[in-house]
Amino acid sequence: MAEQLTEYQGPATMEKITSLAKRRGFVFQSSEIYGGQNGAWDYGPLGIELKNRIQRNWWREMTQLHDDIVGLDAAILMHPRVWEASGHVENFTDPLVDCKKCKTRFRADQIDPEKLAKKECPECGGELTETRKFNLMFKTNIGAVEDSSSIIYLRPETAQGIYVNYKNIIQSNRMKIPFGIAQVGKAFRNEIVTKNFIFRTCEFEQMEMQYFVKPGTDVEWFNTWRERRWAYYEKLGVKMNHLRWHQHGPDELAHYAKDAYDIEYLFPMGWKELEGIHNRSNYDLSRHMQFSGKDLQYIDQDNGNERYIPFIIETSAGLTRTLLMLLSDAYDEEKVADKGNEDDWRTVLRFHPNLAPITVAVLPLMKKDGLAELAQDIRTELKEEFATDYDQSGAIGRRYRRQDEAGTPFCVTIDYESKENSTVTLRFRDSMEQVRVPRAELATRIRTEIKNYKRIK
Ligand code: GAP
Repeated sequence: MAEQLTEYQGPATMEKITSLAKRRGFVFQSSEIYGGQNGAWDYGPLGIELKNRIQRNWWREMTQLHDDIVGLDAAILMHPRVWEASGHVENFTDPLVDCKKCKTRFRADQIDPEKLAKKECPECGGELTETRKFNLMFKTNIGAVEDSSSIIYLRPETAQGIYVNYKNIIQSNRMKIPFGIAQVGKAFRNEIVTKNFIFRTCEFEQMEMQYFVKPGTDVEWFNTWRERRWAYYEKLGVKMNHLRWHQHGPDELAHYAKDAYDIEYLFPMGWKELEGIHNRSNYDLSRHMQFSGKDLQYIDQDNGNERYIPFIIETSAGLTRTLLMLLSDAYDEEKVADKGNEDDWRTVLRFHPNLAPITVAVLPLMKKDGLAELAQDIRTELKEEFATDYDQSGAIGRRYRRQDEAGTPFCVTIDYESKENSTVTLRFRDSMEQVRVPRAELATRIRTEIKNYKRIK
């Protein structure tokens, strides 16, 4: 494992990331014109491209590269008994206190224990209420009648949609243990503390995979999935010394977990959970068996029809949290001297080209003399394969800066020579190096550069 850092090393701060995200259309505050909605964010043109790429990358890793994992997209609204069976109605709570004076609400486990003991508000010194359990699930009613029989919850995790479908998938797809089911989707939690931009929000997305194994093999599979998920981040090209493991102690384990490790990332605000890998034992399936009355045992036809309730190894990553991690990881500021101006600084997002919202920007040096038309023509050719952008306004140095800030790994510049000999300039975001490439070889060169990409800083 890489050297252990004690504090964040890069130039990013949460303020800088939030401001860049808004300025460049990655993430906007929800309902901003009404003053904003706490705990909810909107993803702009670059943000949705980045989010889609993270999701596709994860999906490819989990399903395409694993013959024994299939996908699912279950509904957000599920039968309310699901959440009784899962233990969420009873256990999915945070300890809360309110200030009687300033009305601020706090998580009791996040305030100074001395102040809590004295029931003193950390904000205004007023009196705090007794600590009470606060359920994080959003509750609403379905149908025309609003009574206890119509209560329904917004799912607080995507996992349960997988558990209730596990028999369907075995039957329809002839899956044999060990096998996995992957799902990406929205989850909702009534979080009390939602600071740090999109880190902890009330509406967010998860990328979860549930791996069904024979009891007794669970510890080995748990370790295998820990290794695989660590290797995944290495492949993504993130700074590995900004990642570490955190094993849950007995007080931290979720109600379903036999063992759990978080992969933590060193965000600008410190080490925080990025993904959880959980050994959920046979808790979930046993409970669903009990509450639904359906037999959810696996029948092992290859072993004399042996029956058992599988154990589940879960890998659970936040999609929106991964996006924040990647913004923090990619963010860099650098002194550059593009035009001989020593004081020129650039902000650059060093995304892996597979994740960057725009892969290639096409820039004609001038709008006139047919350069714009030629550039458009080249763009049309490239966009069949790559996510492209086109920009013809402003000085070329400024246009490079705009693309650096969006994290675009390649710029293609079309100049007068391009008209004469059908070559273009290919400019690399990270090194700012420029090479002359025949137009006919451009797509192949970009493809090769993506394949061989190594982050230099
Ligand atoms: N199914 C297991 C589960 O949901 P979790 O540790 O509560 O486990 C898994 O959540 C991941 O989901 C976290 O590691 C985090 O990345 C993401 N996540 C959880 N709560 C979140 C929130 N309020 N906002 C954004 N992401 C969240």
